[in-house]
Amino acid sequence: MQASDGTDVDARIAELLDQETFAPPEEFAANALLSDPGVYAEAERDPAGWWARQAEDLDWFERWDTVLDDSEAPFYKWFEGGKLNASHNCLDRHVEAGRGDKVAFHWRGEEGEERDVTYAELLADVKRLANALRDRGIEPGDVVGIYLPMIPEVVVAMLACARIGAPHNVVFGGFAPESVRERMEFSEAKALITVDGARRKGKTAPVKAAVDGFLDSLPAIETVVVVRNAGDEAPMTDGRDVFYDEALAAADPECAAVALDAEHPLFVLYTSGSTAKPKGILHTTGGYLTGVAYTHRALFDLQPDEDVYFCSADVGWITGHSYIVYGPLANGATSVMYEGAPDYPDKDIWWELCERYGVTLFYTAPTAIRACMKWGVEYPRRHDLSKLRLLGTVGEPINPKAWVWYHVVIGGERCPIIDTWWQTETGHVLISPIPGITATKPGSATRPLPGIDAAVVDRDGNELEDGTGLLILRRPWPGMLRTLYKDPERFKETYFSKFGPTTYFVGDAARRDEDGCIWVIGRVDDVINVSGHRLSTAEVESALVSHPRVAEAAAIGQADDDTGQSICVFVTLEGDQDGDDDLVAELREHVATRIGKLARPKRIVWADDLPKTRSGKIMRRLLRDIAEGRELGDVTTLRDPSVMAELESKVASRRDDADA
Ligand code: WT7
Repeated sequence: MQASDGTDVDARIAELLDQETFAPPEEFAANALLSDPGVYAEAERDPAGWWARQAEDLDWFERWDTVLDDSEAPFYKWFEGGKLNASHNCLDRHVEAGRGDKVAFHWRGEEGEERDVTYAELLADVKRLANALRDRGIEPGDVVGIYLPMIPEVVVAMLACARIGAPHNVVFGGFAPESVRERMEFSEAKALITVDGARRKGKTAPVKAAVDGFLDSLPAIETVVVVRNAGDEAPMTDGRDVFYDEALAAADPECAAVALDAEHPLFVLYTSGSTAKPKGILHTTGGYLTGVAYTHRALFDLQPDEDVYFCSADVGWITGHSYIVYGPLANGATSVMYEGAPDYPDKDIWWELCERYGVTLFYTAPTAIRACMKWGVEYPRRHDLSKLRLLGTVGEPINPKAWVWYHVVIGGERCPIIDTWWQTETGHVLISPIPGITATKPGSATRPLPGIDAAVVDRDGNELEDGTGLLILRRPWPGMLRTLYKDPERFKETYFSKFGPTTYFVGDAARRDEDGCIWVIGRVDDVINVSGHRLSTAEVESALVSHPRVAEAAAIGQADDDTGQSICVFVTLEGDQDGDDDLVAELREHVATRIGKLARPKRIVWADDLPKTRSGKIMRRLLRDIAEGRELGDVTTLRDPSVMAELESKVASRRDDADA
């Protein structure tokens, strides 16, 4: 285990792979915030009362009248009558308690720059930016778009919106301008906060100039705030665009946090669904903040004065919203924020940051762990990781080998691992071990948290005590999405129609084992999970068919050792011919330009025809069988079964059309 060449690490991993369960480490359990398994029964006796007790840890301007109003299910309301402000809970209350000089973020830039941002500094900037937005006419309820890299200003931007009741709509920096445009259009954003340019692996890319390409088509955006970041030339339009630093300097430094209703919208976050149109997941204030603060504290066993927490996600995803911004800040934690890629400047950057800032709690995705495994133990071995005391994963099922590697190589066999299952829609973690209580099993997110009622059912909704089926949630929870922005019908249809109006349909397949542990298998809808990022087959297809040479396209998620799933597309070209390598490259770029690099197909297969049912629906199940080299399932419902033989021979002759 101590050797640096990795040999006996492999032996140890092989040995531990035979171990089915891992009890909480004794020392950890002895000091843990939660160590009494009685919490489950306590919450079960009175779930609403249980959540009300968690909500009491927040600062409320006015206490709620009702904890849960389910009279208009599935449009649930939590903490009605209560008034609070998320930015007040994340900043003011800590500063008022004398913790203003505490570091909120140890920020590290790509080129090694370091910046410690305190709670007081964040608050000062948030107040000024909130005033600047207000001065430009932003009112409660107005949506503000945010398209920023991993810099402290993204946190300021989110909390400034929260301060004045303007829901933010953050778009991940890796999305293409076209994806930003449609998300701004769908949400009718009135302002956009962005940067001159963004840095990535030693290069910079112009952002403001790219954004300008669509701003003229979105007249609703009356204000664009531009953070000077990469030193790029930023074209500025008089009257509409303003530099962030100038806006802050000109703004009033005082700005009281608005007392907002518990159900006031906090943010919209677009995520992929089963159609090409992304869904605007709407989260509100009181329930969401209760859920993220509680789970962040309980699952990470947060000791705010001792711990240093590092979540490697991007703020542009729900993980960043809940577990970089709102959860940790509501709890007054100190976090590490890194601007760059996990392998830049070198593959040891995360471990360097862990050593440098004394990280004790670390949260990442299985795909990242698999990448680290591939790079080798030499990178973590360059650094002292002995302060780490808890590890977490999120985003996709973790394969036992990656779990055990994480446990041995990063956790030094002393850190419990929490495999946290949740979704953009759920707002916060719902299924996870509690580190001082739950014995873990590599690959299982284990049990629903106290107060959460999850079950595995068959197609007819019958509960399976022990077996594989569909995951459902039978009881509302505070951080749940409240609706799909501007589309309540789609909200009901997507989540609350399969098993009735009070049962949330998750969209995941799962197995429940004899101990009641849940093993999430993956999506059952047309959603692909690439490196823990959600993409819809329909979005990729619509990007492809917008290319002049593409007649038709079908995208599927194919099992991938590195990224969990990768995108494989079957493309029929205009005219009677196959494409060549140049066209493969061109189409991949085309998708990257339309959606973002994360949607770039890994593999393109030319297809004369696609397998369709008599009613014309593409049978993706068969395409998945072909791509993964499986025996074909039932083909009798196909309009033309001979299509399949043709495709199979093509796939067999060209296994690797494209590199990663
Ligand atoms: C989907 C949600 C939650 C933040 C990141 C992804 C999959 C998530 C796990 C886990 C197995 C997981 C599910 C889920 N997923 N966490 N611990 N084990 N699968 O958020 O983009 O909303 O995707 O990610 O399939 O439905 P998202």
